[in-house]
Amino acid sequence: MKSFAALGAAGVLGGTGLLNGCAGRAPEWQLLPHMGTSADLEPLKSAAARINVLYGAATQRDTLQSDSAFAAHFAEECALLVPENELKWETVEPEPGDFDFGPGDWLADFAAQNQMAFRGHCLVWHRQCPRWAGSGTSGEAQQQLTQHILETVSHFAGRTHSWDVVNEAVDPHRRGGLRNTAWLNAIGPSYIELAFRAAREADPNAILVYNETGLEYDTRNGAARRAATLELLRRLKFAEAPVGALGMQAHLSASDNRLHADQLREFIRAVASLGLQVFITELDVSDRAVPPDLELRDAMVGKSYRDFLKAVLQEPAITAVLTWGLSDRYTWLSTYDPRTDGRPVRPLPLDASLRPKTALYAMLESFRGAPVR
Ligand code: XIL
Repeated sequence: MKSFAALGAAGVLGGTGLLNGCAGRAPEWQLLPHMGTSADLEPLKSAAARINVLYGAATQRDTLQSDSAFAAHFAEECALLVPENELKWETVEPEPGDFDFGPGDWLADFAAQNQMAFRGHCLVWHRQCPRWAGSGTSGEAQQQLTQHILETVSHFAGRTHSWDVVNEAVDPHRRGGLRNTAWLNAIGPSYIELAFRAAREADPNAILVYNETGLEYDTRNGAARRAATLELLRRLKFAEAPVGALGMQAHLSASDNRLHADQLREFIRAVASLGLQVFITELDVSDRAVPPDLELRDAMVGKSYRDFLKAVLQEPAITAVLTWGLSDRYTWLSTYDPRTDGRPVRPLPLDASLRPKTALYAMLESFRGAPVR
C-alpha cells in the first residue's frame, strides 16, 4: 500500500505530464506504463496470436444486439467469446428439465460468424442457480447435476473451445477445502468429479476447466486459496477426472500492489506439472479505491494489467487470456464495485467511447514481450 499512497499524492499534485520523470518523484512513477500511439495499435487477438495465446472477452447477447459499434470492436479485438450470463444455470434451466439455449445459441452464432472460438461459462456454481438445483437426496441432486450438464454441453458440442465446468468451489478455511454449497451438502466432494465426467461424456473435445477466484495476490488468503486449489486439482487428476485446465479469474484491483511475479509463476508451474493448461478467464482491474484523476487512474489500471500479464505470460502453460468485458461502457464493476465518488469505473482495455486506454497498450506490450508457446 506504500507505493499506492505515493502514487496518489503525486497524482493529485502532478496533474498532466505524468510520465515526464521529474526529479524527486517516487520510483513508482517510472514504472507506470505509457499510453501508446495509434502506430502501436493492432487488434489484441493478433498480438496474442503471435505467441499462440487466444485473447477473448466476456459479453452479453443484448449488448451485441443493441450496440453495433461495440459489436464491431468486439469482433475486431477478440478471438474467443464467452457469454457473461447466458449459460448460467438460472438462464439455461430455470425450472427442472425446462431448457432455454436461445441466448447462448445467439452468442455462439455471433462467434462463429466472426471467426471467434466460443467458450462456456459456467455449469456448476453456487450463484445464479435456481433453488431447486442441488436440493433433495444425494441421488436426486446427482440426477439434476448430470442432466443439466449432459443437456447443456451436448447442445454446444462441436462448437465449444472450453467449458468452465465448476466455478469457485474452493474455501480454504473449511475442513476439506471446499465451499459449503448445496451440491457439497447433497452429494459430497465427489460432485466436482461427477460434473467433469458428465461434461466429458457430452463433449469429447472441449477443454474442461476448473475456474477459481482470488488466486492472484501475495496475501495469506491468496496463498491459502492457491494451496487449496492445487490440492483439489491434484485430487481430480488422481481420480482421473477429465480436467484440462485451471481458470484463474484475475479480478484485480489497481489499489493493490501485492502481486508477486515469482510466486504467481511458481503456482502456474505447479498447475502445469499436473498436465494442465492455465487460462486467465475474467481479467479486469477495479479502480474503485484509486484517486479520481483520469490519467493517473488509467495509468494505475494499466500498470496492474502489465505487471500481471508480464508475469503470467512468461509461463507457457498460459494459453488463453480473457477480459471480463472489453469496454468500460459495459462492466459488471459499475454495479458490483462502484466508486464511492460516483465517477464511472474504468477497469477494461477500451474506454466508454470505445477508445484504447493505457490498459490496452499494456496488454499489447505484454503479449509482444512474451515467449511463444
Ligand atoms: C457476473 C456478471 O458479470 C454479472 O453480469 C452478473 O450479474 C453476476 O455475475 N465471477 C464469475 C462471473 O465467475 O460469472 C461473474 O459474472 C463475475 C465474478
